[in-house]
Amino acid sequence: MESDCIACTAGTLLKHHLRSPNRAVTLRRHGGPGTGVLSRRGIMDPVNLLIDQATADDVERLAELAAITFPLACPASSRPEDIEHHIATELSPVRFRQHLADPGKTLLCLSDGNRLIAYSMLIDGEPADGGVRSSLSTFPTIELSKFYVHPDHHGRGQATLLMQATLETAAQKGVSAVWLGTNDENHRAVRFYEKHGFTKVGVKTFRLGAGVENDFILELTFPERS
Ligand SMILES: CC(C)(COP(=O)(O)OP(=O)(O)OC[C@H]1O[C@@H](n2cnc3c(N)ncnc32)[C@H](O)[C@@H]1OP(=O)(O)O)[C@@H](O)C(=O)NCCC(=O)NCCS
Repeated sequence: MESDCIACTAGTLLKHHLRSPNRAVTLRRHGGPGTGVLSRRGIMDPVNLLIDQATADDVERLAELAAITFPLACPASSRPEDIEHHIATELSPVRFRQHLADPGKTLLCLSDGNRLIAYSMLIDGEPADGGVRSSLSTFPTIELSKFYVHPDHHGRGQATLLMQATLETAAQKGVSAVWLGTNDENHRAVRFYEKHGFTKVGVKTFRLGAGVENDFILELTFPERS
């Protein structure tokens, strides 16, 4: 993704995609319905994609997708019982319903109209963890807490679309930066985030069931707007 997409409005985002007529996408929440196209390795995909805010109707399929995708973000050394515990306690329909009820959280869903393909979650506010805060350079910031794409859709450009919409949503909230944590062995995710303008700024730990995993902290700073 070109960096000029990061803080652009829905209109310019759509125009940007229109320059490369490869893939149709509908960005429903951002500036109303419209069809654009996504350039990404020239892969043709006839499916119309929707990016929308999650609703109560999505919690079951969010939990299903989370159960499929969360293990993919864990290192091979993670204990299956810790992963299962995390899925059962943190990625259940009940938890997603709680996230939806929290005005400080924004859940975006990317679907083909029927099937949920990917989701992201932003959390407003400064990080509670002092170690994370001291690693970050730019405030106000927002946490990209979840970013998961169904494995059938990896490497197909859908992750980029969701990232663009997620960053656009963050920018519209008036923050100057976005931060996230990802496992330090999740090389694909690190590469993906770095491609989209994030840089490694520190490390933190992540409790996974009874275990503790090591995360990189990554930060993206929006260009200053004049
Ligand atoms: C992380 C994720 C969102 C990225 O989406 P994606 O469609 O796979 O991303 P892309 O294919 O655009 O980019 C991945 C990059 O990593 C590279 N890559 C793939 N496997 C890799 C590996 N083992 N090591 C290093 N880089 C790797 C790809 O080649 C690509 O880089 P390139 O475009 O320069 O060739 C998606 O893979 C995913 O949902 N993974 C499982 C869940 C997860 O880990 N989420 C992040 C939690 S923090």
